[in-house]
Amino acid sequence: MPPHAGFDAWSAGQSYDHYMGRWSRMVATRFLDWLDPPRSADWLEIGCGTGALTAAILQGRDPNAILATDPSEDFITHARAAIADPRARFETATAQKLPAENESVDIVTSALVLNFVPDRRAGLVEMQRVLRPGGVLSFYVWDYPGGGIGFIDAFWKAAASLDADAAELDEGRRFPFCTAEGLGDLCAEAGLSDAEISPIEIVTEFPDFEAFWHPFTLGAGPAPGYCMSLPDDHRDGLKAHLAEDLDRGGPVRLTARAWAVKAARGD
Ligand SMILES: C[S@@+](CC[C@H](N)C(=O)[O-])C[C@H]1O[C@@H](n2cnc3c(N)ncnc32)[C@H](O)[C@@H]1O
Repeated sequence: MPPHAGFDAWSAGQSYDHYMGRWSRMVATRFLDWLDPPRSADWLEIGCGTGALTAAILQGRDPNAILATDPSEDFITHARAAIADPRARFETATAQKLPAENESVDIVTSALVLNFVPDRRAGLVEMQRVLRPGGVLSFYVWDYPGGGIGFIDAFWKAAASLDADAAELDEGRRFPFCTAEGLGDLCAEAGLSDAEISPIEIVTEFPDFEAFWHPFTLGAGPAPGYCMSLPDDHRDGLKAHLAEDLDRGGPVRLTARAWAVKAARGD
């Protein structure tokens, strides 16, 4: 089992929302502006989590229907309860086996998921299977290798300076393909055509250092999963180490960058 396996903790919808969902929601709106999808489309979303992108599609993109999927029963329950819209359906499923017929949707999408899919190329092939001719394959992932998500990058750098084993868990190291070049190569390997890749930057602002630290103690996601696995004294040391760099007695502002991708089926 890889060293990170125990820490990719995808459950506890509210905790996840506080850690990551709120930032994904900000990227989702910008992603959809860039994607400029057609109205009245049939959508399929992979790894919907608590529904950050699902909600943005329903609010601003006038879909005919959206089937939102995630392997976490916890997240599906949370998203279903939070999003009461007759156009949306929620199902438990993985990217490896999508619960949809061949050529049955116009747009297949996912937010911050592809890097967690065990075989990404196979995931992209499966996404193409469900797309109608002329359909759009789309997704976004954080720019982990470029230190693109500042609050997670700061966390892992501090963690690795206190625990050499933490370096292995750093998402920047785990997901080296999350660069413009790496994503372009991946799309080509999966047989996609006309791939376009564009950065989306947001500012993640926490009112103070405690607000920055708190989501790491909620256990939802790789860095919080690691944080809560530590003995109390080690966790206190990590917090103190981060505070040295980030606690200036006021807001903590860091940038986060995602790569947005859209492509066509390579027939
Ligand atoms: C960082 S969260 C993103 C959630 C949501 N899309 C968002 O933007 O907030 C990653 C999501 O990927 C899901 N996931 C993990 N492995 C997956 C797989 N093999 N197939 C589909 N989804 C997966 C997790 O359950 C989790 O909901």
